[in-house]
Amino acid sequence: MNILVIGAGAREHALCAKLKESPQTAKLFQLPYSKAISEIADSRDIAALDFEKIAAFCLDEKIDLVVAGPEEPLCKGISDFLEKKGIKVFGPKLRGAVLESSKQVAKEFMNRHYIPTADFKIIYDFSYAKEYIKERNKYPIVVKADGLAAGKGVRICFNENEAIAAAQDFMEKRIFGCSGSKIVIEEFLEGWECSVMAVVDGKTFTMLPVSMDHKRLLDSDKGPNTGGMGAICPVKLKEELLDEIKNEILWRFITGIVTEKIDYRGVIYAGLMITKNGPKVLEFNCRFGDPETQAVLPLLNEDLAGLLYDAACGGKLQKEEAEVKSGACACVVLASSGYPENPRKGDEISGLEKEEGINIFHAGTKFENGKYYTAGGRVLTVSALGENHSAALALAYKKAERINFEGKHYRKDIGLKLDKDGFYKGESVSN
Ligand code: AMP
Ligand code: GLY
Repeated sequence: MNILVIGAGAREHALCAKLKESPQTAKLFQLPYSKAISEIADSRDIAALDFEKIAAFCLDEKIDLVVAGPEEPLCKGISDFLEKKGIKVFGPKLRGAVLESSKQVAKEFMNRHYIPTADFKIIYDFSYAKEYIKERNKYPIVVKADGLAAGKGVRICFNENEAIAAAQDFMEKRIFGCSGSKIVIEEFLEGWECSVMAVVDGKTFTMLPVSMDHKRLLDSDKGPNTGGMGAICPVKLKEELLDEIKNEILWRFITGIVTEKIDYRGVIYAGLMITKNGPKVLEFNCRFGDPETQAVLPLLNEDLAGLLYDAACGGKLQKEEAEVKSGACACVVLASSGYPENPRKGDEISGLEKEEGINIFHAGTKFENGKYYTAGGRVLTVSALGENHSAALALAYKKAERINFEGKHYRKDIGLKLDKDGFYKGESVSN
C-alpha cells in the first residue's frame, strides 16, 4: 500500500514510525513538510488544509490509504472530500468528527445512547448563563466552550464569580471565537483519568491499550491545562472496569453510530474519568490522542497499516482488543518556556542522538543549517520502551535530561499515579 499521513506533529511522527514497520507499506508519504519525519517518510510541502492539492497528490501517487492525524482537517471535512474522489481515508467524515468539534453534539449523542457522562446543561446566551449559575449554586462546576479550543476551553470553577467569568470569556469576549457561542455547564466528576482509544470500522472496534495523559503543565496536576505533557501505557484495569468501558462506552458508541447512520471509520478517543460510580466520558476526540499515541503505538503488536486499512474499508475488524507487547512505554513532552500561553522559539536543540529503545518524536522543531531549533510549544516527545513501567520511565527521563534547549520544561511525575504493575494506585475508586 501507498500511505499518506496528514499532520506534522509528534503524533504523526509516531504514526509514520509504526506504519513504516508494516510489511504492507510500500511507499509512505507525509505532509506538511517535517525534516524529522522526512528521515522515515517522503515528506511533502503541502498544507494539511489544502484539500484540492492533497487529492491531486493522492491520485498522482496512487495512495491507497490516507491517515488523518489532527482534528482540524477532519473537522473541516477532509474525509468527505477525499472519499468523493475515491480515496480511502482513515478518519471520520464530518458527521462523526463533530463529536469532537461540538461538545453539545457529543453530550446529546451520549445521552441518546446511554453512554455515561457528567450531567450537563447547554446554554445559548450569556444572560441565561448568569441566571443558571446563580440558581445552581453548587461547586465546583465545569464550564466548557462548545467548540474547538486547543484543549483550553474547559474551566473548573470553584465559585460563582469564576463560573460567570468563564461564561463571559467564552460567550461575550469570545476568546475562542465562535467556539464559545454556546457553552456546556456540567457536573464536576471526581475520580482518576485515563484515555481509551479504539479503531472503528463503522460496525465494530479494536480497542488499543489504555493509556494515561498528563494534561496540566506542572507536576502534581498544577498549572494550566495543555495539549498533554506526557503519557504512559498500558494502564492496567481490573476486568470488571474494562468490561464496563467496552460495554457501556465503546459498544454503545458503535450502536449510536450504526443507528444514526454515521459512517465512522477512524479512531474514537474517549477521555474518561473513573468515578466511584464507574467510568464516565469527559470528552470524545475523533482522532488519535497526542501524546498518548507516542506511548501506545510503540507497544502495539499489530500491523498498523493493515489495521487502519481494514477499518477504512468498513466492517473488517476482527478482534475486540489489539495485541500488545509485554512491558510498558512512557513518553515525556519537552516544552518550551512560556508554553502554553506564549512559547519561546528559536533556541538550538542538542542531545538528539539516537539511542536504543528510545524514540524522539518531533513536534515544534525546525531545521536550519544542519541544526534543529525550537519552533513551538510542545517541542519534542521522548518515548521509551521498558520491561516495566519504571524501566520505561527511567529511560525516557534519562534521555529527557540529555536533550537540551534554553527554557526546556517537562513534568517530572509522569506515570507516578500507577503502581509497578500499571494499576492506578488510588484505593478510593472502583479500580
Ligand atoms: P476535556 O477537554 O473535556 O477532556 O477537559 C479537559 C480536562 O478538564 C479533563 O482532562 C479533566 O481533567 C477536566 N474536566 C473536564 N470535564 C470535567 C468534569 N466534568 N469533571 C471534572 N473534571 C473535568
Ligand atoms: N491528549 C489529549 C488529546 O489528544 O486531546
